[in-house]
Amino acid sequence: MKSFKRYLITSALPYANGPVHIGHLAGVYIPSDIYTRYLRMKGMDVISVCGSDEHGVPITIKARQEGISPQDVVDKYNAIIKDAFARFGIAFDIYSRTSSKVHYQTASEFFRKLYDAGEFIEKTTEQYYDAEVNQFLADRYITGTCPHCSNENAYGDQCEKCGTSLNATDLINPKSTLSGTKPVLRETKHWFLPLDKYQPFLEKWILEEHKEWKANVYGQCKSWLDQGLQPRAVSRDLDWGVPVPVEGAEGKVLYVWFDAPIGYISATKELTPEWEKYWKDEETRMIHFIGKDNIVFHCIVFPTMLKAEGSYILPENVPANEFLNLEGDKISTSRNWAVWLHEYLDEFPGKQDVLRYTLTANMPETKDNDFTWKDFQARNNNELVAILGNFVNRALVLTQKYYEGKVPAAGALTDFDKETIAELPRLKEAIESNLEVFRFREALKEAMNVARLGNKYLADTEPWKLIKTDPERVATIMNIALEITANLSVLFEPFLPFAAEKIRKMLNIERIEWANAGSINLIAAGHATGSPELLFDKIEDEVIEAQLAKLKATKEANERKNRTVTPQKANVSYEEFSKMDIRTGTVLEAERVPKTQKLLKMTIDTGIDKRTVVSGIAEYFTPEEMVGKQVSMLVNLEPRKIKGIESQGMILMAEDADGKLVLVQPAAKVENGSEIK
Ligand code: 2FM
Ligand code: ZN
Repeated sequence: MKSFKRYLITSALPYANGPVHIGHLAGVYIPSDIYTRYLRMKGMDVISVCGSDEHGVPITIKARQEGISPQDVVDKYNAIIKDAFARFGIAFDIYSRTSSKVHYQTASEFFRKLYDAGEFIEKTTEQYYDAEVNQFLADRYITGTCPHCSNENAYGDQCEKCGTSLNATDLINPKSTLSGTKPVLRETKHWFLPLDKYQPFLEKWILEEHKEWKANVYGQCKSWLDQGLQPRAVSRDLDWGVPVPVEGAEGKVLYVWFDAPIGYISATKELTPEWEKYWKDEETRMIHFIGKDNIVFHCIVFPTMLKAEGSYILPENVPANEFLNLEGDKISTSRNWAVWLHEYLDEFPGKQDVLRYTLTANMPETKDNDFTWKDFQARNNNELVAILGNFVNRALVLTQKYYEGKVPAAGALTDFDKETIAELPRLKEAIESNLEVFRFREALKEAMNVARLGNKYLADTEPWKLIKTDPERVATIMNIALEITANLSVLFEPFLPFAAEKIRKMLNIERIEWANAGSINLIAAGHATGSPELLFDKIEDEVIEAQLAKLKATKEANERKNRTVTPQKANVSYEEFSKMDIRTGTVLEAERVPKTQKLLKMTIDTGIDKRTVVSGIAEYFTPEEMVGKQVSMLVNLEPRKIKGIESQGMILMAEDADGKLVLVQPAAKVENGSEIK
């Protein structure tokens, strides 16, 4: 086991093309913040860096949509994001931007160093080009069907559904997102990072030396390595980004995924003149907090860049989370299906910790998870109010009542006292061991168990009954209850920093170091506590209903938007129409195409012959349902290969506004091979 002197925590740089939502928080920023706060409390040398990712097509697309310049887009959203993180208590040491001068310089120098060392392959290849708008179509300017999972909205550089990193030329049915037209191929020169050359290094480093990485992360890396890595272009034909710093590269910028992770280095440089000790000393433990769609870039591409550069350390761990859904549906910026952080902060003032708690308790650590407003309410009312808040309140209110707020001295301890006290170091240890391996949900549960322990202690000892008959015993009980409260102020600090501060204020104590928690020597007898307040308050049904109504309105607005009928296409002549040979046929056999979600392979009796057709209808029809069905089919469509299977025709479907498919069938059974005219 390597020894470490310091930690460098990075959190994925959010694109400054929109505000951040609960999915970002649960996936990246809350885990990173909990971990950083925990290390700081342990007195470690730790820095946490983040900033806005301000380049790439996500920004220029937004600029087009909003009718403003890319610079205006990043200025607007960088301010919103930075402010929301600060209000929410995400304690970065620096929140920078990739438009900073330092970053341009750092990213250019990094590229130049690899270029001078001959690390890139310079190659002229054919890339997609939109002839209507006269532009090469990088990344999100092009969409199409993912060849791996059949997602129809995969981007030119990545499929967000299955996480695969793609080249635009891999897409099936590519389409320009600028004009909607089919792009053409045109030659252009680019620089490629030879990931294949680093495959043996990556295999050893990840598959052998980092078996402890989370199963989702390790599994994704293994599957890419098993497929065999290919060189990847790290430049783009775009006018927004860091210019490629070599001659003959006019009009070309660094690929956003080349410059963005270098943003972590630039941010550290801006933070401290001692930045090199965090980046170049083997005794630094670098941890990247990211969402699952960023795994390939942080585990394969960026480490290759760092390795090729030669003077940097590599990440020690990349604890990526899966995705969070909202009320059972995928969070989506374009559909406005999200709880936006800046809106939450305005609508729930002072309730940062309620969201922090709910998102940690539901963190998508090993699988996608769901956020619901009802769960949010239940977590607040049944856990934060009823367990944590209730205990802290009772401890402080009873101390006010019996001792005018002064901490009473403890007398002799009973066996029950000793058993209760012995639980404190055990629970602290359980929190630590879970945090060390990025199990935040479990760690939070153990912290809550400390509050449960306090409640049980008061319920079992019943000081309110003893106060008349045995005041001496009550002094001991209240001393222990206050010590548990002080422990809570420490153990909850990483998770609920606002509540922890409120507890400290009520106890009238300074921040206590992590090392001292787990004991009952945190506050001196005679110490005067502050005045008790409610730590959390109940969230009423109306508040939750208002949020649900807001989501319902969003859904309805989306449905209205989708309901618009596709405009009529340009006229065709009768001659053109009559070229299409549409016949009736019957499905004889049907089976799913392995490793796809949408495709069915069918054998169809067309009356002319029996032939194979592959169709993207598996989400709406099971193979069993299709067998025996009579269908309408375009039989003279040029055969094409789908997933290696030759499809010899197309089954006609009606598609409604929600994308639901319905078979187009003759109203009565007719012979196979009947012409449809
Ligand atoms: O997925 C995203 O939102 C990217 N902007 C993350 C970049 S992380 C890093 F490398 F900077
Ligand atoms: Zn895919």
